[in-house]
Amino acid sequence: MNATFPIQPLGRFAGDSEPVKRPKEFACFSYDEDHKFHLDDSSLKWYYPPPLNTDLSKGYETFVQHDDSIDEHLDSLLETIASHEKENGKPIDANVVTWRGMMTKIMAAPFEDRDGFEMNATLYRDCIFIEEHKIGPKQEQRFPGPIPQEVMQFWGYKFETLCTMPAPWGETSREFIESRDSHVVNNKQQYCSVVRTGLGKTALCLGGEVDALWDVKPTTPGQPINWVELKTSAEIRPDNWRDKENFERKLMKYWIQSFLLGVPKIIVGFRSRDGFLLRTEEFETTAIPTLVAASRRAANRAPLWDGNVCINFASAFLDFLRHTINDEGVWRIRRMAGSPHIEVFKVEEVGHGNIITDNFMNWRIKL
Ligand code: A3P
Ligand code: MG
Ligand code: MG
Repeated sequence: MNATFPIQPLGRFAGDSEPVKRPKEFACFSYDEDHKFHLDDSSLKWYYPPPLNTDLSKGYETFVQHDDSIDEHLDSLLETIASHEKENGKPIDANVVTWRGMMTKIMAAPFEDRDGFEMNATLYRDCIFIEEHKIGPKQEQRFPGPIPQEVMQFWGYKFETLCTMPAPWGETSREFIESRDSHVVNNKQQYCSVVRTGLGKTALCLGGEVDALWDVKPTTPGQPINWVELKTSAEIRPDNWRDKENFERKLMKYWIQSFLLGVPKIIVGFRSRDGFLLRTEEFETTAIPTLVAASRRAANRAPLWDGNVCINFASAFLDFLRHTINDEGVWRIRRMAGSPHIEVFKVEEVGHGNIITDNFMNWRIKL
């Protein structure tokens, strides 16, 4: 079966947003400095303002970089879900389980058609599990410029290292805080939050990395958490509408990414063209769609994106997906770069490919 979900025209997704459930963390896990999985919050970090005028390229030679060409499927997420289910003695009640990154691509699809995406999905016990379809090592697009792409990518991780501590402020030594500029940058280490959320009629379980905590984690489960998302971006040059527009487009991705996990605050480190940290600016996630719309109106320019359209589009797409993926096998979800639609078609008649782990199935059989 081959089904197609048209993205255009967008008019049908305009208007008030479908109901959205506030994301609630119900579990978490960590990858340590060797990217080894731990069912705990050991890689949690706290935010503390970074030293300005820092060279974000410093330490690139010692960067401990995660090899993201290895396909990790949904393994860590499933292990965390299984552990939660063992504690509760019942399966989680989600219609869709996936990484936050997959939902980000879907929600952004109405306003972003440059990259395209491919995912694999399978139905298992009334729930659709979606993973990224990895196609060998990523073909990095090369942009001519004085600074290698790899170094520019490092800046983002360096900023995270400059802004975080492994314990709250009161429990971290002054020496640690002041020496952050010389700490080894390691992106193998991550804290991942696993939340339950909802878009329209679909209950979702999403897992995704969060960068840091602003203060303390509430002790009552389900309470909003003061997470902080850290981002770097090129400084917006004065009177340069193109710089501003590029940043306002980026804000859509920041907003979606943070909205999906319930991250309330985004801290942007603005940097010079040659990678020096100039200043930081805080954005309240929920205010971003209105902020960008107002800025466009004030500049007499057409809107760039609409948050309600993102939500309503994703909600309608999930309805379509749940209607389409209705028997066994593995399905491909594909949007070609520039395409006005998303295709869903079967690639394996039976089984669940590598999406569902044996461990997860063995556990679920016992339930
Ligand atoms: P910046 O976003 O500050 O440039 P995240 O913000 O999602 O926690 O990601 C941290 C950093 O990982 C990013 O920092 C960027 O350097 C890198 N990164 C994340 N997603 C990427 C992608 N799709 N392509 C290239 N680099 C990416
Ligand atoms: Mg991060
Ligand atoms: Mg970040």
